[in-house]
Amino acid sequence: MHIRNQFKSKEIPKIAQQIYNLIQQEKGLTKHPLSSIKKLIKDGSVFVSFNHNSQIVGFVTRKKITTNFFEIRSWYVAPKYRQTGLAGNILRKALKGNRFNYVAATFQPSIVDIGKKFGFEHATLSDLPPRVLIHFILSRNLSSIFKHLTGKKSTLLIRKCA
Ligand SMILES: CC(C)(COP(=O)(O)OP(=O)(O)OC[C@H]1O[C@@H](n2cnc3c(N)ncnc32)[C@H](O)[C@@H]1OP(=O)(O)O)[C@@H](O)C(=O)NCCC(=O)NCCS
Repeated sequence: MHIRNQFKSKEIPKIAQQIYNLIQQEKGLTKHPLSSIKKLIKDGSVFVSFNHNSQIVGFVTRKKITTNFFEIRSWYVAPKYRQTGLAGNILRKALKGNRFNYVAATFQPSIVDIGKKFGFEHATLSDLPPRVLIHFILSRNLSSIFKHLTGKKSTLLIRKCA
């Protein structure tokens, strides 16, 4: 299973469409427009795992917010490949070294436990530097804000650089 984040321009539309479709089908993931998925892939911000038939079997996005802060989003592995170590391998590839800080938000308590294994800690918005905080708030999806305010609370996780 190989993991890539660099793609030729001609590969991008097909990969973006597949990722868009997988996100649409997965209820645990926040939906994103096709155009923003394309942009993230172009920027090298999406780590994609392919099987031997060149089908996408997992991905995660690592978006740069400031020079030393990244946001981790859209972590996905196809059901058939779960609990095989693939999810961890994709995430480890995206968490490049200990020189950067990472922020992530999730509605799923199980992801909070998994996050701890990868060095993430429970945090609050006041733990974020001002520029990261502004980006974080402005980039929330309206449906996520609504979900957070009306019942199912999301948890903020931070992995600080060493
Ligand atoms: C989230 C997702 C990618 C995780 O994939 P998975 O195959 O189920 O994950 P795994 O069981 O392999 O767990 C990943 C790692 O966390 C560890 N882990 C799992 N449960 C854990 C727990 N309760 N406590 C601590 N560590 C845990 C595993 O040991 C594994 O580590 P390893 O790679 O070193 O072996 C997958 O379940 C998925 O695609 N879900 C649907 C989309 C989604 O909800 N994404 C998250 C949105 S916030």
